[in-house]
Parts: sequence; C-alpha cells; structure tokens
Amino acid sequence: MIRIAFFDTRSYDRETFGKYISDDIEISFFEGKLNIKTIEVVRNHDAVCVFVNDEVNEEVINKLYEYGVRIVALRCAGYNNVDLKAAFKKVHVVHVPAYSPYAVAEHAMALLLTSIRRIHKAYNRTREFNFSLDGLTGFNLEGKTVGVVGTGKIGRIFMDICKGFKMNVIAYDKYPIEGSDINYVSLDELFEKSDIISLHCPFTEETKHMINTESIKKMKKGVVIINTSRGALIDTEALLNGLKERKVGAACLDVYEEEEDVFFTDRSGHILDDDLLARLISMPNVIVTSHQAFLTREALENIAQTTIENLKSFFNNEPQIKNELCYKCGEINNCKRKRKEKCF
Ligand code: NAI
Repeated sequence: MIRIAFFDTRSYDRETFGKYISDDIEISFFEGKLNIKTIEVVRNHDAVCVFVNDEVNEEVINKLYEYGVRIVALRCAGYNNVDLKAAFKKVHVVHVPAYSPYAVAEHAMALLLTSIRRIHKAYNRTREFNFSLDGLTGFNLEGKTVGVVGTGKIGRIFMDICKGFKMNVIAYDKYPIEGSDINYVSLDELFEKSDIISLHCPFTEETKHMINTESIKKMKKGVVIINTSRGALIDTEALLNGLKERKVGAACLDVYEEEEDVFFTDRSGHILDDDLLARLISMPNVIVTSHQAFLTREALENIAQTTIENLKSFFNNEPQIKNELCYKCGEINNCKRKRKEKCF
C-alpha cells in the first residue's frame, strides 16, 4: 500500500486522482500547500504529491526524510520550487515533463486573441446590452512578428499555431535545436523586432526578470507580452511602468511572481493586499488568468496517469524511476542511470 499525502488540492485534482485510489494506493487530499508549517501531516505517508506553489525547500526536505518519505512527486513540469540539491541523496523527485504542451500553447494564443481583439471588453459590454464598438479596434496577427523565448515543447507548438496565423516567427533559446528550421535570433534582436513576445523558457537564476526596464526599453512601442511560463521571468514593476508609459501595448499573464498566496483560491470576498497585482488587473490592456494554462481535461488525465506511474516505478523497485529529476548528472529529463547505478 502506497500512502500519498497530496497537497494544494483542488476539486479537479480529487476528481482525476481519486480514480486511482485502490487497495494499493491511498491518497490523503490536503487543501493547504506543503511548507514547513504544514509538514506535520506528512507523518505516516510514504510519498508526497505537490504542485507549483508548494515549498519543497531544504528544511522541508529534511523533515520529509526524517518522516521516512523518500519520494516527492510533482504533478507539474516546472520544478523551481524544489531544492534538488538538498533532495540529492535524501529524497527522489519525479515530475510530469509533458502532460499537454498543447494546453499551455493554446492558452497563450487564447490570451493573445482575447487581448488584441478586446474580447474581454466586448463580452462584458454585450452582457449589459451595450453593443457599441468604440474602443474595441484590434489588429491583425497576420504579418506580425512574434518572438518566442524558449523553443521547447510548448514554445514549438506555440510557434506552429502562430505560423497558422501567417505570422513571422523568430525565436531565442539558450540551447537552440541544431539543424532545425527555427529562425533563431539573439535575445536583443528578438526584443527589438517583435510585435508580440511569448515566454516559454523555465525560471532559473539566469531567466529571472529577463523582462525588465532595460529589455522593455529595447522593445517596439505597443509590444504585447505573453507569459504562461513562470511569473518571475518578468519584473512586475518594470512591466507596470512600461504599460503606464504606453511602451508595452498589452500584457497577457497566466503567471505572476507573487502568485503563491493569491492564485488558485477564491479571493473575491477579500481586499487584495498585493498592490502591483491589483494595479495590473485594473488595466484594460492586461489580462490575468490564475495559472490556468494547463487546465484541460486531457492535461489533467495525463498528469494523474504519469504521476501515479512515476510513483509506482519507485515503489515497485523498477530499474529506472520514471521521470526522475537528477541533481547530480544534470540530465534532468533523460537521466540514463539505472537504479543500481544511481547517483544517490
Ligand atoms: P521545455 O523544457 O520543453 O522547454 C524549455 C525551453 O527553454 C528549452 O528549449 C530550453 O533550452 C529553453 N531555455 C532554458 N534556459 C533558457 C534561457 N536561459 N533562455 C532561453 N531559453 C532557455 O519546457 P516546456 O514544457 O516547453 O515548458 C516551458 C515552461 O512552461 C516551463 O518551464 C514551465 O515553467 C511553464 N509551464 C507553465 C504551465 C502553466 O500552466 N502556465 C504548465 C506547464 C509548463
């Protein structure tokens, strides 16, 4: 019997993961996030399952180890909230590298179309029988230049979608795909030439605040910035200034640097303490969704299936733990080592 402590649970998690509860798998669903304050509930569990905003830092990892937990299963692709170095030799970390890159790429395009065709404004107007078109003028995507930062799974699908709109696609990636037909340019050139910029690279020390005052200065007036990746890729104050100065034409944000305490919960009855977020949301040319890009039926099914397979591969002592993140060999998604030759 595998006993899994499941954190930051929402109704859709209970629905999809609930199907896997059996004689072999017991799941305790907790609504709260995993952090040092909530860790006590992990006692008597064999594994923990976490999402993007749970805090799996060194302190938490040491406690997990003390409580006998030897595996953390991320039910997401990004793992910047896990201290892999601290986990090394203590706790195995698995993730879901690709559950539906289409879900995220399609959401990025949904945000872009909503923004530039003012669908969010039009929807509110017609609900009140206001059929005026004043202020709703948009622009065509056809012929516009889109700059894609990060040409991994999601970035490449987003590029294909853009090509379907007959856009001119340029891209930057720190690790460009050799021999591909992707039109790679330098990051500066991408900032200078793009009418629309979409971020699809991971959050790392290097990518932190890649959209900042300096980079915004290099951009075209009226640029549309889309972020479905991680909030901290953007310096929010710099973005706000860019919007206020009319340099940035619009922002489409599915992620936000300080989203941990706000996103995924109904805060409608509360005063929003985060002034930056409140200011962003108040702007007519900013669309914020609360880390929703992954949320499709297909993605949820894939996430649940892969997470359970990852856990089973560990508990069934399979020669290779599926989708393990390896700190030591650095081969994050393709660690070749077998269990018997493991780094741990
Ligand atoms: P991926 O690993 O397939 O692609 C990431 C790409 O970024 C790679 O090509 C890599 O070479 C590139 N990269 C790495 N460092 C870079 C740098 N310094 N500058 C430019 N490019 C760099 O990842 P995938 O699946 O395409 O996901 C991209 C990001 O999307 C994830 O890191 C995650 O943060 C985010 N995401 C957001 C979701 C949401 O619901 N909003 C859901 C899933 C992922």
